[in-house]
Amino acid sequence: MKIAIFSTCNYDQQFLTDFNTGHELSFFAEPLSLQNVMLTKGFDALCLFVNDHANAQVFAKLEENGIRLILLRCAGFNNIDLTAAAAAGIKVLRVPAYSPQAVAEHAMAMVLTLNRKTHKAHNRTREGNFSLEGLMGFNLHGAKVALIGTGNIGKAFYHILKGFGCQVMAYDPKPDQELMAKGLQYGTLAEVLADAVIVSLHCPLVPENHHMINSTTLQFFKKGAMLINTSRGGLINTPEVITALKSGHLGYLGIDVYEQESKLFFADHSAEIMTDELIARLMSFPNVLITAHQGFFTKNAMEQIAGTTYSNADAFVAGIPLANEVYE
Ligand code: NAI
Repeated sequence: MKIAIFSTCNYDQQFLTDFNTGHELSFFAEPLSLQNVMLTKGFDALCLFVNDHANAQVFAKLEENGIRLILLRCAGFNNIDLTAAAAAGIKVLRVPAYSPQAVAEHAMAMVLTLNRKTHKAHNRTREGNFSLEGLMGFNLHGAKVALIGTGNIGKAFYHILKGFGCQVMAYDPKPDQELMAKGLQYGTLAEVLADAVIVSLHCPLVPENHHMINSTTLQFFKKGAMLINTSRGGLINTPEVITALKSGHLGYLGIDVYEQESKLFFADHSAEIMTDELIARLMSFPNVLITAHQGFFTKNAMEQIAGTTYSNADAFVAGIPLANEVYE
């Protein structure tokens, strides 16, 4: 197939070229949008990532241009209008699980950094400052952690947390029987938020849970608790989280995702004036850690993403059942 690959950086080009199973590839650096959808003419398939937006208008153009398949090189599909895809007769395939450990390990890296302030200690010692003032953390052993979502990533994080000796509780509308058998207790969202010193989000973003962390649910949090979001930015109402940080009710925030990330992440904006007031405010807090959607970014995960993307493409070409199809 002729595949147009959007939102590509050098590392995407490297892995998608190395694992190619014989398709004709064209790489575009920019994300897919209504403004550049004309670039898709003459292709059979598109390969998209988290910040490519395919809404009903885009799908109408894709249908006109003869696109038959969308290969998502990610697990989440909140950026794709699946109803419009079906109406346009375009199949959407994803990579449902690629090294959930990669994201779970990044969530733990965020917990450890915020708690033990290793990023600040590193900067201090490099400048000859060996003071410990302001660096005090708390033991993770025995700490209560709430997992919101116990799918592939939540489950991987559960095992990491147990290794640290944490007491884990969870909220998930579909509790995992294997984890329950291992002793994981599930509760309502309000119950698990109220009991935890660390809350970590591992659920997909769907319309029903948009801004699930907001001024109301933040009231359930213990004073000084830590919130980690490696899932999707839209799960949290950022202005209301900022209010909770300003009052000290929320003690720490670690985010690998941001609701307006498509304008910022995966590119170098260091020489530009920051016009996004929310992220500028977040960056001003000493107890906030921001990474730019790098949870997935390990060599192992990149290999799995590329491998599954091409096995999806090849299954479509061969006309065999599409195990990784997503639809309304
Ligand atoms: P999964 O589909 O294996 O598990 C999701 C779990 O969330 C399921 O058990 C589901 O029942 C539960 N869930 C659904 N709605 C919920 C709600 N409102 N509250 C609590 N739980 C709910 O997904 P997986 O692989 O664990 O990934 C989770 C999310 O992580 C993805 O949807 C994606 O948004 C994000 N992600 C982030 C990456 C990064 O680089 N930061 C990379 C990959 C995924």
